[in-house]
Amino acid sequence: MSNSSGLPLGRIASKGTPAAGPCQHVPEVCDYADWHATDYIDAYYGGGVLPDEQRVLAYQLGLMESQPLKFGRALEYGCGPTLHRAIAASRYAFRIDMADRVPGNLAQIGAWLKAGPDNTDWNRHTRYVLSCESDLATSARRVARREELTRKAIRNLYLSDARWPNPLGEQRRHFYDLIVSGFCIDAISQDQRVWRECMRNMLSMLSEGGVLVLHALHRCSAYWVGERLYPNADLSKDDVFASLLANDFVRATIDVEIAPCPENARYGYSCVLMASGRKAWRRRHAATTLC
Ligand SMILES: C[S@@+](CC[C@H](N)C(=O)[O-])C[C@H]1O[C@@H](n2cnc3c(N)ncnc32)[C@H](O)[C@@H]1O
Repeated sequence: MSNSSGLPLGRIASKGTPAAGPCQHVPEVCDYADWHATDYIDAYYGGGVLPDEQRVLAYQLGLMESQPLKFGRALEYGCGPTLHRAIAASRYAFRIDMADRVPGNLAQIGAWLKAGPDNTDWNRHTRYVLSCESDLATSARRVARREELTRKAIRNLYLSDARWPNPLGEQRRHFYDLIVSGFCIDAISQDQRVWRECMRNMLSMLSEGGVLVLHALHRCSAYWVGERLYPNADLSKDDVFASLLANDFVRATIDVEIAPCPENARYGYSCVLMASGRKAWRRRHAATTLC
């Protein structure tokens, strides 16, 4: 997640950043019922592909490129009003579903899908994705082709809440072989118990042997969107590692990295976490043990 907006300094009530002065009003965090998709786009995506987003997109691409086969079913969970992670994934997955809690976010995605190539909102991110994949010049034609591929790959837009035990219903348990989730599960609550539960709920949709790419804010308990503060779970690298282990990921496949983004400190965070891993094949193992 990257930020280019000019917000007032010194008002963030979060751990890991300077505390607000004793006379300053410390605002409470908002609920996502009070979320404006366009404010979020303006604050975080209006100024091009900023450094932290370059890091996490390159991380996602590197992981997907390293897989021997294209993914069959991918899910982007907590997509917000953004397309860049789906644009990155579309070369590596035959179909992509997208889910988020806020209807206005999905409306933005729907509008982009419907608009076709006349909509240039995500061209800069597409250009960046293409530049990571190849040294070829990123012509307007290549950008248009990648976005067309993305429009074809995206199948369903789902309203979903990660606090539900089955966020997309029983039929989507163990369904996806790739889940990409950027800055969503950590942004639901300041309570780490909620974060752990939401991780478990989201990861119940990943198939055995399936791959996760996850991004989260590092050591942040609240982040700004325009004039509003939203919650964050104040995560460390160890928290993410422990959660993946607890959700049946193969230890040797788990990677958790910290990427510094000091330019974003005044927005509530100065590092982001990038994580990935592969879920174990439990049933096959159980069957082998029985034989
Ligand atoms: C910081 S934004 C991240 C959006 C996008 N993935 C990105 O990287 O810019 C957090 C997202 O989490 C979504 N969200 C918040 N609570 C949620 C919940 N309980 N279940 C699912 N999504 C939720 C919000 O609607 C919002 O789109």
